[in-house]
Amino acid sequence: MILGCLSQKGRTGKSTIARLVAQQFLTVDGMTVHIADMDPAQGTSVKWAAKRRKAGLGDISCAAYKDVPSALEAGRNHRLLIFDGPRGRADSRHRLRL
Ligand SMILES: Nc1ncnc2c1ncn2[C@@H]1O[C@H](COP(=O)(O)OP(=O)(O)OP(=O)(O)O)[C@@H](O)[C@H]1O
Ligand SMILES: [Mg+2]
Repeated sequence: MILGCLSQKGRTGKSTIARLVAQQFLTVDGMTVHIADMDPAQGTSVKWAAKRRKAGLGDISCAAYKDVPSALEAGRNHRLLIFDGPRGRADSRHRLRL
């Protein structure tokens, strides 16, 4: 299953929703989740996952990607792949076409 948290407008809650959904699905038996952070420069979800790990709150699989095919490849090993979309930019709808 793939979930895209995307918006051309910035600061609309993409990263917040991606993280909340990841945590919720991880409570389901047998579920594996990966967050694809599509804004490597900002790295909101990657930084959050690292903070959680450091605080002993559990490991949530998350990595940053520059392109969709790389993220899809990594997500093949997980039952749920969540895209945390990049900040609103004119080209984001093209870069994130699935
Ligand atoms: N820890 C926090 N405390 C208060 N407000 C926050 C916090 N984190 C995010 N926000 C606010 O919540 C809103 C949504 O933030 P979020 O990072 O989820 O948006 P986003 O769509 O991922 O942003 P971006 O387009 O920059 O990736 C923003 O207005 C942000 O300023
Ligand atoms: Mg974000």
